[in-house]
Amino acid sequence: MSNMGIINEYFTLNDGFKIPKLGFGTYNEEFADNTKSIKEAIESGYRFFDTASLYETERYLGRAVKESKLKREDFIIETKLWIDEMGYNEAKRAIEKSLKRLDMDYVDIYMIHWPRQTGALNEDWKRLNIETWRAMEEMVDEGIVKRLGVSNFLPHHLENILKNCRIRPVVDQLELHPGYSQEGVVAYCKENGIQPMAWSPLGRGRTNATVGNSILVKLSEKYGRSIQQINLRFLLQKDILPIPKASSKEHMLGNKSVFDFELTDEDVSMLSYMPQTAWLGEHPDFVVPDKKSNPENL
Ligand SMILES: NC(=O)c1ccc[n+]([C@@H]2O[C@H](COP(=O)([O-])OP(=O)(O)OC[C@H]3O[C@@H](n4cnc5c(N)ncnc54)[C@H](OP(=O)(O)O)[C@@H]3O)[C@@H](O)[C@H]2O)c1
Repeated sequence: MSNMGIINEYFTLNDGFKIPKLGFGTYNEEFADNTKSIKEAIESGYRFFDTASLYETERYLGRAVKESKLKREDFIIETKLWIDEMGYNEAKRAIEKSLKRLDMDYVDIYMIHWPRQTGALNEDWKRLNIETWRAMEEMVDEGIVKRLGVSNFLPHHLENILKNCRIRPVVDQLELHPGYSQEGVVAYCKENGIQPMAWSPLGRGRTNATVGNSILVKLSEKYGRSIQQINLRFLLQKDILPIPKASSKEHMLGNKSVFDFELTDEDVSMLSYMPQTAWLGEHPDFVVPDKKSNPENL
């Protein structure tokens, strides 16, 4: 497979592991039944891929990695367990299923996808997180998971893990983009040595809100870069790791071309404090996104 320039700038995680500063997201229908876009992302130079049991894209990611003919160690693969896979025994079963779907014998980062359940289980979230984490720590001991992370964890959720863990989370994956930069939780992560990672770094193409925003349009003109590149550059300058999803090579390559220009501190600050826009509306304590259509879909 041709190599169109691997992303070779890295963040160092709290266990010393060096991770590319830009990853690739696989949440979307077009990834759920084919390997074409993921293969194109590999060809475009992406090596760090995000998936989750919820997305039903693990098997296609695994297949694309295998068919790339590159070595497994050339990739960084992260996946997540969903809320119906939380608990000590459930987590152990979840990783087995994920590894089977990925057709891999380890993942680089294994994450709790969502900190809190609604409904009857809601009160029990602290205990459930700790039990799940204990199972995940044992996965690290076994070598089937290299390191642990969380997603959509706010400081009070992180505190529960940090107070009770043997192995600290290396990353927290959050919705982060201009117009939703969650300064408080990002600062908390940094104070605690946890790498913030941005999901929907482009505002999920809710371009109406983000792309149409006059601040971003002005900055796009000023720097001669696309609005998506301004979004990604903004996150990188805040030491946040974005994982944009794209389904055309043009987008994949465009999103990668963000290491050769710099926003001024003033522009970064302006984007940090712009009015809230393009928030997906899924608050970790109050809203749980739709369950996967078929949890047993193996
Ligand atoms: N942990 C969580 O709870 C959570 C939640 C949501 C997402 N995620 C992860 O984060 C990843 C990224 O987030 P996301 O998929 O929600 O949204 P996103 O990456 O912010 O946006 C993806 C959208 O932007 C478009 N796009 C990409 N590059 C572009 C470019 N250069 N120019 C114009 N449009 C462009 C894509 O269109 P095309 O497809 O046409 O290129 C797609 O519609 C997901 O895939 C998933 O892995 C995690």
